[in-house]
Amino acid sequence: MKVHLKTYGCQMNKLDTALVVSALKANGFSLTDSVKEADVVLINTCSVREHAEQRAFSHLGHLKHIKKTRPDLIVAVIGCMAQRLGADLLGHEAVDIVCGPAQIPQITELVTKALKEKQKTLVVMEKIRQASEEQSLELEKFESVYGVEDKQISGQAFVRVMRGCNNFCSYCVVPYVRGPEVSRPPATIIEQIKKLAEAGVKQVTLLGQRVNAYKYAAGEKTYCLADLLQMASDIDGIEWLKFVTNYPSEEFFDEILQVMADSPKVSNYLHIPAQSGSDKILQAMNRRYTAEQYLELLDRARAIVPGIAIAGDFIVGFPGETEEDFQATVELVKKARYKNCFIFKYSPRPGTTADKGLKDDVPIEVKKRRNTELLAEQEKISGRLSREFLGKKVKVLVEGLSKKPHLNSAESRDNPQLVGRTATDYIVVFNGPASLAGELVNAKITQTSPLTLFGELVQLNP
Ligand code: 5AD
Ligand code: SF4
Repeated sequence: MKVHLKTYGCQMNKLDTALVVSALKANGFSLTDSVKEADVVLINTCSVREHAEQRAFSHLGHLKHIKKTRPDLIVAVIGCMAQRLGADLLGHEAVDIVCGPAQIPQITELVTKALKEKQKTLVVMEKIRQASEEQSLELEKFESVYGVEDKQISGQAFVRVMRGCNNFCSYCVVPYVRGPEVSRPPATIIEQIKKLAEAGVKQVTLLGQRVNAYKYAAGEKTYCLADLLQMASDIDGIEWLKFVTNYPSEEFFDEILQVMADSPKVSNYLHIPAQSGSDKILQAMNRRYTAEQYLELLDRARAIVPGIAIAGDFIVGFPGETEEDFQATVELVKKARYKNCFIFKYSPRPGTTADKGLKDDVPIEVKKRRNTELLAEQEKISGRLSREFLGKKVKVLVEGLSKKPHLNSAESRDNPQLVGRTATDYIVVFNGPASLAGELVNAKITQTSPLTLFGELVQLNP
């Protein structure tokens, strides 16, 4: 039986897809790139903004059309939309299975049954905020069995250290679809990283919605993210460790930065979303810091880890955001000196406190204009920071073939354009043999754009 996959959304979702793929493969399924060849189409969905949901719906519309001529095709929807929309989603003509993020351990069974019995099935948590111990154990088992061969990108893997979120930022749907915050046991995480290292993985990215809040009590000791990074650094074969995403808080902040400064394996890269530069908006977002406190954290990060690359996220057009509030965000971006940031237009999410209590009162044109303006401001900064790399040599973990416009006219089949990232998460494009995917190489930077460094391969096996 062949499965075609489509994944929307964040790294968490990509990781869930990888786990599901390992489970399906272990049970005799194989993957196909073509919907035409597929017996099963599995869609992993995202609910963080309305746009992501619309894209999934438009894909389902396409599948509905295909099912007219191929009624045997099974369509399974997993991920955040499955949990958020449940029975409504099952009502969609194209959908056979709706399976929430906490139920993915059942996926093989559900798909196998649907292929046989052609019945619609719904498995989601009824009360997601009351996740049970049993469920947690089941997910833990699934993750440790199938989370050891994720190599979607050669040489790299993602390891979840926590599930869920308890932060309840007022705009965010995550706590309602991913459930309460639970940290995974350190022993299981480290075991998983060891197995990945044995399988040739060089870079591991630890994942959590508030990864810096990782906390696990085992006997006398309470483990924090800094402990995990330290333990993972001691594993042979692991070269680089990254972690996303950080919530701006004092909790373990200095400890984590100190490990970054002390361990050559912990990448000097911090993704730490501010969301806004206006204290009024931050408060309405239920973010528990002021712009000044946020900038103070960045100063401290730079003092402990000189040269650290910092990235952020912003939401523009949050309810009540005036021109003055927006200008405060622009000011913060200027002061923060981000390597890059991700900017989103506020999208009301049903069930969140912002949606219940605040009117989405910033017109879409204003949201778009603020988005463009903030992006332009950040581009100037990114451009300046990128240019500092000109003529310098950087170490790059090669991901694979690059889709960027080709720069090198001397390119050939044995010397295609490749893409990779530095430890500080800069994207680097250069020419070299495709066999370098998953390897660490040196590149000399010859050209830059705000978000990309272009270079030449200087030496194999640095
Ligand atoms: N509208 C717009 N952007 C959002 N994000 C989260 N929820 C929303 C929303 N309702 C953004 C935040 C977060 C990133 C993953 O998505 O900036 O950091
Ligand atoms: Fe959403 Fe806030 Fe939790 Fe991040 S910390 S997942 S933005 S609620």
